[in-house]
Amino acid sequence: MKTRIIGTGSCLPKTVVTNDDLSKIMDTSDEWISSRTGIKERHLAVEETTASMSIEAAKRAMENANVQAQEIDLIIVGTVSADFVTPSCACEVQAAIGADSAVAFDINAACSGFMFALNIADAYIRAGVYRTALILGAETLSKIIDWEDRSTCVLFGDGAGAAVVRADETCGLLAFDQGSDGKKGEVLACPGRTNNNPLVKTDRTLRYVHMDGQEVYKFAVTTVPASLQKTIEKAGLTAADIDYFALHQANIRIIQSVSKRLHVSDDKFPISLDHCGNISAASVPILLDEMNRKGLLKPGMKVALSGFGGGLTWASAVVEW
Ligand code: ACO
Repeated sequence: MKTRIIGTGSCLPKTVVTNDDLSKIMDTSDEWISSRTGIKERHLAVEETTASMSIEAAKRAMENANVQAQEIDLIIVGTVSADFVTPSCACEVQAAIGADSAVAFDINAACSGFMFALNIADAYIRAGVYRTALILGAETLSKIIDWEDRSTCVLFGDGAGAAVVRADETCGLLAFDQGSDGKKGEVLACPGRTNNNPLVKTDRTLRYVHMDGQEVYKFAVTTVPASLQKTIEKAGLTAADIDYFALHQANIRIIQSVSKRLHVSDDKFPISLDHCGNISAASVPILLDEMNRKGLLKPGMKVALSGFGGGLTWASAVVEW
């Protein structure tokens, strides 16, 4: 039994903020941002929330998969920016779409969140526990970014992506690799939650995302190609057999470096970061949905997916479409 992606959906907030718009409110420029990252613009949530974007992305994925809410057994949202501590974003999605018999929960694996959700769904499906799952990556990073730190705030955007996955006898997920390195957690961190206990002194300045960009870069350009290579080999394939590589959209230089290390042409690495920025857990499913809706993905194609980021965490998969 395999886990097959049978539908995708995504949702981006209405408000688009270009690099030039940012240069009007902080000391930066389109030239600095686009030459170092490939990002030209990003969508930022003003009226939207993590849950509202997730609900829309979920509905689009269900429509694309032709799946009704009653058929969904499991909902997992990968997110570091859910609207509430509880209820989870996944429970909000469950209520809004009416998936009354589903089990719903969030997971935190930062930019690998969607990929970890895919692996969890796959384990349940292969074990015969559930048949149909809705998995999402959704973020409102704009609310946890330090807008006074130009070295991080220009990198991120908001949005949600979803996929419906189902048990299938013929094709689907061929191989998976995932890992974590908690010892390097500080290179990309968001202390976030402050302590309300009056007996505890809390440093309230440590609330936002902070990153050692160069360490993250080194981690990504070594771990991601190695993880992809391992996964492709596990699937019994070579890099040349892969039709597309859908990578977490952190930075164009990381993606170019991965393509070089795998000796695969850049054309096989579709990009959404130019108009989305880095949306952490939502990057991979949004990119996949864009590829799907453009008609790039044909039955039988082999697609390699990879997410990597805070934790540190990483995960790769090869799927047969
Ligand atoms: N606009 C203009 N200048 C800026 C900006 C900005 N937005 N941000 C920083 N600078 C300045 C700095 O102040 C510094 O100036 P100085 O030399 O006078 O001190 C100069 O630019 C260089 O700063 P660095 O931080 O060293 O910039 P670097 O060349 O390392 O590029 C970047 C930063 C693009 C983030 C790079 O480290 C990188 O590619 N990192 C990869 C990790 C990444 O993309 N992370 C994204 C999120 S993590 C994830 O999703 C996995």
